[in-house]
Amino acid sequence: MKRTVTCGALREKDAGAAVILNGWVHRTRDHGGVFFINVRDRYGITQVLVNPEAACVSVARELHQEYCVAIAGTVRVRPPAMINPAMETGTIEVVADNIVILNRCETLPFQIEEETQAKEETRLLYRYMDLRSSGMQHRIALRSAVNFAAREWLVGAGFYEIETPTFIKSTPEGARDYLVPSRLYPGQFYALPQSPQLYKQLLMVAGFDKYFQIARCYRDEDARGDRQPEFTQIDIEMSFVDREDVLTMTEELLNHIFKKTLDMHIAEHFPRITYTEAQERYGTDKPDIRFGLELQDFSSFGERSTFRVFHDALESGGAVKALVVPGGAHYSRKQIEALESLAKVYQASGLAWMKVTHDGKLEGGISKYFSGQEKVIIDGLHAQGGDLILIAADSRRTVVNRALGALRTKLGTDLKAYNPADFAFVWIIDFPLFEFNAEEQKWKAAHHFFSAPQAQYIPTLEQDPGAVKGDLYDLVLNGYELASGSIRIHDAALQKRIFKVVGIDEAEAEERFGFLTTAFKFGAPPHGGIAPGLDRLVMLMSGQSSIKEVIAFPKNSNAQSLMDGCPSTVDQKQLDELHLLIKE
Ligand code: AMO
Repeated sequence: MKRTVTCGALREKDAGAAVILNGWVHRTRDHGGVFFINVRDRYGITQVLVNPEAACVSVARELHQEYCVAIAGTVRVRPPAMINPAMETGTIEVVADNIVILNRCETLPFQIEEETQAKEETRLLYRYMDLRSSGMQHRIALRSAVNFAAREWLVGAGFYEIETPTFIKSTPEGARDYLVPSRLYPGQFYALPQSPQLYKQLLMVAGFDKYFQIARCYRDEDARGDRQPEFTQIDIEMSFVDREDVLTMTEELLNHIFKKTLDMHIAEHFPRITYTEAQERYGTDKPDIRFGLELQDFSSFGERSTFRVFHDALESGGAVKALVVPGGAHYSRKQIEALESLAKVYQASGLAWMKVTHDGKLEGGISKYFSGQEKVIIDGLHAQGGDLILIAADSRRTVVNRALGALRTKLGTDLKAYNPADFAFVWIIDFPLFEFNAEEQKWKAAHHFFSAPQAQYIPTLEQDPGAVKGDLYDLVLNGYELASGSIRIHDAALQKRIFKVVGIDEAEAEERFGFLTTAFKFGAPPHGGIAPGLDRLVMLMSGQSSIKEVIAFPKNSNAQSLMDGCPSTVDQKQLDELHLLIKE
């Protein structure tokens, strides 16, 4: 009873053919004697009809959902009233003459539906059942297609696919490493790579010129919808390139992936905005540009008002900025308070507001401080009657931007301000090379230590680290950071200066990254690269908001795999061999 066709293959032209199907019982229906079985496999669902007089009817009545079966029968065209246009095989059915149960199935933990309503915990515990749903099957199939399309384009463009080790010396992407204890060297550890960053740079020193790898990366950081402890990057590095080459290559790669897998044309070139502009206009370096609702400067109105809070913010070098909510004048006090609470999560001390009336006046909230200025404000902010104006002020510009940026993201969703099916890519360029860490009172690399400063800043690197712009770029898609990359340093002396600015002294630099700076002394070529996150890409392509939906066996939000129960304790013997002592 080996299958002769799959459950998605049969059409009207196959009428009369004797076939064998193998698959799972999706549903059964008893129509007063005539028994129907929907048999499912990866390729689709086929309706099987069992006549009451057929010898196999007793086996058919034994079937339950998710039994694995083999069914032999003859294809026939369905009577017109029974045609189901929603099924690809909806014009035919197979009249059964033999049914073999290949395996039974216990009581289901949840129904196998297109998208299950089961709790995430249950889905992850029985992931192999969850993966049977057509939603998961489609997403995993899409992931496979994206992988293939990426390889196809990159190999076609002259890239070598080169594997780099997964037991490495600790790499510096900024997260905590997962460590692997060494049995042969007591007290010593390998780290799992947070990314193949240093190895891909060494491959450039080795002369491979164009490298890629569908690389597994491991980071011990707090989980989020778009983060997993182990994830996959389409990791890319190229020699003798500038930023323009890397951006163009990425645009071509993504165009190919979308065309090949979704038959979709995305923008040939993606718009570019600077990091500073992104912060000022959208309050984030990951803007969703499918909608406007941009942050607007309110300082000139603030200055002319009698509102103390605004004056204080401006006098201390801060910012006063506004967000116009179209049609928001009907928001209740409670709704506005909810927005204010969100702003406070981002450290805003409060959220001021005013409503625009249909006769061109401002009312409510702080409107009384702006008498005489109403028309200038309404015109200046391009507001309309019926809009709500939200205003944040703080002595710290970043707080104002971040708080209003978070409100913008929420309002964009609440107001359905965009088409969820759109794909809006945007490059964020000219990132600062360093960020000041107030807690540790020191400069840190904004991306990683190996990104090059833009040439004009090299002479004055140490004097004003905060002003240095890096040759860094992020690709953002629909408000998610999809890819990150940079032009790298390839000069040992410059690399040492960067280590110094971020407080890594020569001995530590030598001990941690000496192999890289040494390699740079052997004719390292100029190089740069990028790494799009594969999980995030497939998540967005399939309209999901969690990368767990596109990973076959993800971890839960506490970094556990519920199905196989890991992490788990190990035998004392294993600990002894690894020279490990567990602290009580
Ligand atoms: P970065 O750390 O920005 O850069 O990572 C690049 C991309 O990888 C994805 N990503 C993740 N996806 C899922 N879960 C995670 N925990 C996670 N962390 C990152 C994102 C991100 O944009 N070596 C550099 C790249 C380079 O400079 O070439 C790097 O790893 O999509």
